[in-house]
Amino acid sequence: MEKYITKTENETIEVGKKFAEGLSVGSIVALNGDLGCGKTAFVKGIVEYFGNSDDVSSPTYTLVNEYDGTVQIYHFDVYRLENPAPEQCDWMDDYFFSDGISLIEWADNIKAVLPENTIMVTFKKLPEKGEDYREIIVE
Ligand SMILES: Nc1ncnc2c1ncn2[C@@H]1O[C@H](COP(=O)(O)OP(=O)(O)OP(=O)(O)O)[C@@H](O)[C@H]1O
Ligand SMILES: [Mg+2]
Repeated sequence: MEKYITKTENETIEVGKKFAEGLSVGSIVALNGDLGCGKTAFVKGIVEYFGNSDDVSSPTYTLVNEYDGTVQIYHFDVYRLENPAPEQCDWMDDYFFSDGISLIEWADNIKAVLPENTIMVTFKKLPEKGEDYREIIVE
């Protein structure tokens, strides 16, 4: 387990970049934590690390955004998919078992269909330590 503390959005982007060094084709990363805790900021860092400077925002009407780079990145946000039937998620396997990297915001919503080797990243706000304080735990 690794734990990072950040106090600005940029610091979270930097932690994402550093974390990205350990990723490779086929990596699957679950990103969990409350609204506004920095999941998308972390994804920005990863997308930048793989050489793409596009704006990163959570996919809204589609569940997945794609970013080209030195490795293809698939950015999911499954906030609106609560307790889906497993067959509703079958299409995701084409991304999970592809030649790209999958990053999944609100992955706990689809816990049952996450592959076994998924890397878990949890974001926590601790308001008593300041509005912008975040803990990022990788396991
Ligand atoms: N330490 C920090 N790390 C990341 N973001 C921070 C931090 N401190 C403040 N912020 C602010 O918190 C917000 C984080 O937004 P972001 O979209 O990354 O969250 P999210 O977890 O993806 O939310 P959602 O679940 O709604 O998709 C931004 O407005 C950012 O400026
Ligand atoms: Mg987000």
